[in-house]
Amino acid sequence: MIRGVLKLVWHLAAVIGMVAIALVAWLWMQGITTRTPPGPLETSVSRMARLTMIPSAARQRPSSEPATADNVRSGSEHWADHCASCHANNGSGETEMGRGMYPPAPDMRLAATQDMIDGELFYIIENGVKLTGMPAWGTATPDGEQASWHLVQFIRRLPTISEAELAEMEEFNPRGAADWQALEQERRFLAGEGLTPPAPSTHKHKEQ
Ligand code: HEC
Repeated sequence: MIRGVLKLVWHLAAVIGMVAIALVAWLWMQGITTRTPPGPLETSVSRMARLTMIPSAARQRPSSEPATADNVRSGSEHWADHCASCHANNGSGETEMGRGMYPPAPDMRLAATQDMIDGELFYIIENGVKLTGMPAWGTATPDGEQASWHLVQFIRRLPTISEAELAEMEEFNPRGAADWQALEQERRFLAGEGLTPPAPSTHKHKEQ
């Protein structure tokens, strides 16, 4: 009897050991690059793991904010300022940073994001996602939570957002000093105050 149990434990340990070796070998072969996105299996397993790690009370938490036009607008301005560098104004994730991450910033207009319930989106915004580029934005203040609910409401707009709304958001996208300078030069040029047209920014890794 004891010999049988020992044999079983031994077999189990051997299987676990082999799986661990295969996993390490697979990770080793992947290398450190973030240039190739995770495959469909890795993506669905990690997304499932992510959802199960969100406490159920947090998932069920209802929004404390009504989805008024003002609240959605506040979410869109906040998004343009803090989130668009990775997620893009339209939520596609088509930015240099968003594309280069592992996993990449998802296209949040699609069902994979839109099918998540409000409490899940809110929890991710407040707490971030470990081992990904998604930062935690929570400030543990009522104002911060209000802003995060507005962001959730804005995320719901993404699949039907209009060109006019996207154009308005550009006003709130962060700019470096060189971009502000070029904008000011452009304004002065158009107003007839200067003679030189604005120089295009030279700091570009690739065309967007
Ligand atoms: C530095 C890059 C970066 C910034 C800035 C960023 N995110 Fe993310 N975000 C990510 C990445 C990468 C993921 C994918 C995480 C994953 O696959 O688990 C993500 C995922 C998410 C998700 C989960 C959606 C899904 O389907 O996986 C939400 C919601 C989200 N971000 C909201 C925001 C909001 C709101 C902001 C701004 C306040 C923001 N993010 C700013 C990189 C970023």
